[in-house]
Amino acid sequence: MVVYFSGTGNTRYAAECISELTFDETRDMKELIRTGKRVKFYSNKPYVFCAPIYAWRFPPLVESFIENSDLWGSNEVYFVATCESQTGNAAKYLKAICEKKGMRFMGFAGIPMPENYTVMYKAPSEAEQKKIFDRADEEIVRITNIIIRHQHLDDKLDMKLLKPFTAIINPWFYGAFVSSKKFRVTDSCVSCGKCVGVCPYKSIRLVNGKPVWADKCTHCMACLNGCPTSAIEYGRRTVGKKRYLCERKPNIIWR
Ligand SMILES: Cc1cc2nc3c(=O)[nH]c(=O)nc-3n(C[C@H](O)[C@H](O)[C@H](O)COP(=O)(O)O)c2cc1C
Repeated sequence: MVVYFSGTGNTRYAAECISELTFDETRDMKELIRTGKRVKFYSNKPYVFCAPIYAWRFPPLVESFIENSDLWGSNEVYFVATCESQTGNAAKYLKAICEKKGMRFMGFAGIPMPENYTVMYKAPSEAEQKKIFDRADEEIVRITNIIIRHQHLDDKLDMKLLKPFTAIINPWFYGAFVSSKKFRVTDSCVSCGKCVGVCPYKSIRLVNGKPVWADKCTHCMACLNGCPTSAIEYGRRTVGKKRYLCERKPNIIWR
């Protein structure tokens, strides 16, 4: 079973490719998180948890979702991340979750995909995105081949000696940057309410037709990048920046 979390579509795309190539089922973790209920899964194929990397780890809401889910059937768990280029020490924390749950950690790999963190960076050009996805498709096939054979998965992006710095960088990043306080909406807002439905924490509600953010936020960028009229800004950091969403559909064939 392939279970994914995705803010702007990159990880959904990777997960859908893997499930299509393995003839497996896909589950959208965000929808399950939004129910607020503890989830029981049953799968006789390996579990494949897919998520974006935020500050060199899986997002906290993803780690705690995995930790608090009941996994029946298969004992094997793979982890696939999408990222811009750096996976830090994500694997270490995921391995620890597997050990705690008595599951078998089958490995971790990161797939470079277009940057979606509009609050800090610019998304790559369309031409650059195409090149990134061509390379990503190769890596998705490599990963899938390993999963099908029940072999151990290694991360090609392994940051080696830098990995331990995750323990400093990750909490610093969340403390210094991750907050909903700077989200605001401009006059381009058409009150469609799309942002309300995409927030994993259900933190957004419409007041007089305009979005208002509660405190809980993981900076997944689903609201900001998914707004059909680009009406959501984050302070001044996002003004004039092109928004990024991956709407690709799986189109990989075994070669
Ligand atoms: C809050 C935040 C933090 C990020 N941190 C990292 C990082 O540490 N390393 C990295 O390579 N990419 C990082 N990225 C980029 C995303 O991991 C990457 O674009 C990912 O493919 C987005 O997946 P999604 O479209 O499924 O949400 C970050 C993005 C966000 C929004």
